[in-house]
Amino acid sequence: MSEKTLRIGLVGCGFMGRTHSNGYKRVGDFFPTLSYRPVLQAVCSRSRNNVQAFSQQWGYESFETDWKTLVNRNDIDAVDICTPNDTHEQIAVAAAKAGKMVLCEKPLSRTLEEGNRMVDAVKKAGVANTVWYNYRRLPAVSLAKQLVDSGKLGKIFHYRANFLQDWTINADLPQGGTGLWRMDVDAAGSGVTGDLLAHCIDTAMWLNGAIKDVSAVTETFVKQRLHQLTGKVQPVGIDDACIFHCHFENGSLGLFESTRYARGHKALYTFEINGEHASIRWDLHDLNRLEYFDHRDESIVRGWRSIHVTDGDQPYMDKWWVPGLGIGYEHSFVHQVADFLKSLEDGSACHPTFEDALQTQKVCEAVLSSASSKSWKDTGVKGKQY
Ligand SMILES: NC(=O)c1ccc[n+]([C@@H]2O[C@H](COP(=O)([O-])OP(=O)(O)OC[C@H]3O[C@@H](n4cnc5c(N)ncnc54)[C@H](O)[C@@H]3O)[C@@H](O)[C@H]2O)c1
Repeated sequence: MSEKTLRIGLVGCGFMGRTHSNGYKRVGDFFPTLSYRPVLQAVCSRSRNNVQAFSQQWGYESFETDWKTLVNRNDIDAVDICTPNDTHEQIAVAAAKAGKMVLCEKPLSRTLEEGNRMVDAVKKAGVANTVWYNYRRLPAVSLAKQLVDSGKLGKIFHYRANFLQDWTINADLPQGGTGLWRMDVDAAGSGVTGDLLAHCIDTAMWLNGAIKDVSAVTETFVKQRLHQLTGKVQPVGIDDACIFHCHFENGSLGLFESTRYARGHKALYTFEINGEHASIRWDLHDLNRLEYFDHRDESIVRGWRSIHVTDGDQPYMDKWWVPGLGIGYEHSFVHQVADFLKSLEDGSACHPTFEDALQTQKVCEAVLSSASSKSWKDTGVKGKQY
């Protein structure tokens, strides 16, 4: 069935460069009815040795060491941005101007201004675009969306989410440069707010609608670190931890926490939603399960049930193995590629688009502004979220 090719130009060959490349390679095998087929046309990174090795390992046709050359090549249809946050705007705007579709890693940008310019660029160019908030596409999270939308939970009262890690506790860990750009505010834009809470906010607004206003606290536990690029000990500008509470537009209350100082936790992303009739909860460490409690069950059997989301009638699972067999983190990226290709076929948007991701950016910005001003902040986000 695969007739049309989509020639991918991928920028950045680190963690996300690998997950996306795997997504492009796997999608045709498991979603054979899609009419578009991704072709690994070119990959770009600054180090010639690294990009050449990556290109050979993953089977790219060619490589570049300057993203400007890549985005202007005539044999590229879509530019995929897998580089640190300080490069997203420049690459996305140039790619859109060159008439390329743009797939961009999250967070959309470091700031709202950058994000606005990115949204303007893709709108003006009229090019397909999406942002890789991939957790939406884990089957158990997609099932949560179906359950909320079906009204099974009834009126929602509470939304609670955590994203906890522990990898920056060591005060001798430097900031900046290869592997540690997340510690450098100039490269990352913010700390856990843009890196981790952005995921929680994207999922939350997708499941439970707009976040109206926020009140936040942030903390930077280690105030100074050696900067790998300058060789100097410099102030740390990122938030190491962030806690905020909020009102959703639907009247429910939200509570969010993220830190890189929760000893023992590597990537504990959890959320729980409590409604009038039912509650659901999910945990990334057990990603194939969705827990569900329904108060309408007969009282003698009422309790939390653990749904193993692996049946063919559950989201995406008809494409994989047989009921009872789970899938992994990497499959969320295969699903995002599949949904992007399907959107091209249908002429529809692949959510979250740049515009959708800009709404998450607004909440992140309001969170940081609330923490620094010690006051409630309106987010400016309104209406149905996609
Ligand atoms: N969706 C997710 O769950 C998820 C997970 C991790 C990272 N991310 C996002 O993906 C992006 C990349 O993160 P990562 O973890 O893959 O980082 P990484 O450090 O592993 O890789 C970054 C890559 O970009 C390259 N690079 C940096 N500047 C460049 C430039 N100017 N031109 C070309 N290449 C350049 C580096 O050489 C490296 O290959 C970030 O925006 C991050 O927030 C998303």
